Amino acid sequence: MLNPDGRVIMVSGANRGIGKEVAKRLREQGYSLSLGARQPSKLDFDDAVLTHVWDATSATDSQAWVDATIKHFGHIDGVVLNAGVLLEVGLVEGSDEDLDTLWAVNFKGPLKLIRAALPALQASGHGRVVNITSLAGKRLLSPNGLGYAASKHASMALTHAIRQFGWDSGLRATAVCPGLVDTEMVDNVDPPTGQFKIPPSAIADSVTYALALPNEASVAELLVNSRLELSI
Ligand SMILES: NC(=O)c1ccc[n+]([C@@H]2O[C@H](COP(=O)([O-])OP(=O)(O)OC[C@H]3O[C@@H](n4cnc5c(N)ncnc54)[C@H](OP(=O)(O)O)[C@@H]3O)[C@@H](O)[C@H]2O)c1
Repeated sequence: MLNPDGRVIMVSGANRGIGKEVAKRLREQGYSLSLGARQPSKLDFDDAVLTHVWDATSATDSQAWVDATIKHFGHIDGVVLNAGVLLEVGLVEGSDEDLDTLWAVNFKGPLKLIRAALPALQASGHGRVVNITSLAGKRLLSPNGLGYAASKHASMALTHAIRQFGWDSGLRATAVCPGLVDTEMVDNVDPPTGQFKIPPSAIADSVTYALALPNEASVAELLVNSRLELSI
């Protein structure tokens, strides 16, 4: 057990994909978990895990989930911002509605959740935020990915805002920026010939690493790639 002091971590979108793999790994390591999902009944974990409804687009779910977590565990030590959507909004084509959804789920939802959790994260003295952004938050691979990349660049800014705001209270934030990960989100995207998708377990490795670092060894960004990109 790597988490002897009972740290409490919230994970959004833990019902499938990367979030589920991260939550499973954190549970194995002994963390106390509070998991948020649009349909909490889909969260398949043991009874010691708190589950709560969380829709990134809701005006009230973030505060309600944070309040329920503090009521149940008494404190919050970390938040893994994982839930997200990929919709194609390019330079030339793509709807306003999809652009609004990208912004609402990939940026505004995480911002609302962090605003609600900030007092508890600061009180922890070793608060952690791990933000699953994307390599699309660092560079644009294609003009068709403009909307998603813009939302993930905003997500990178959120990570750095948390670092700057919370530093003196011991709050540390890390952006984990993966390339293609083998989940439903990119089922219809083939990796380039001879390349492969990152297994979600490798992202779980990155998240647990970032969460476990001491206050004195903060890593702002972890760029995780399965292929050679000369600029990354
Ligand atoms: N897969 C990749 O190649 C890749 C690469 C870089 C970064 N990422 C990022 O990694 C994160 C996880 O993605 P994934 O690959 O695990 O995708 P996924 O399998 O499609 O899972 C997405 C998760 O986000 C949740 N979600 C979507 N809309 C939501 C909303 N309005 N409110 C709350 N939750 C919502 C989904 O819940 P429902 O089941 O209710 O829809 C699901 O739990 C995302 O932020 C994504 O941008 C993924």
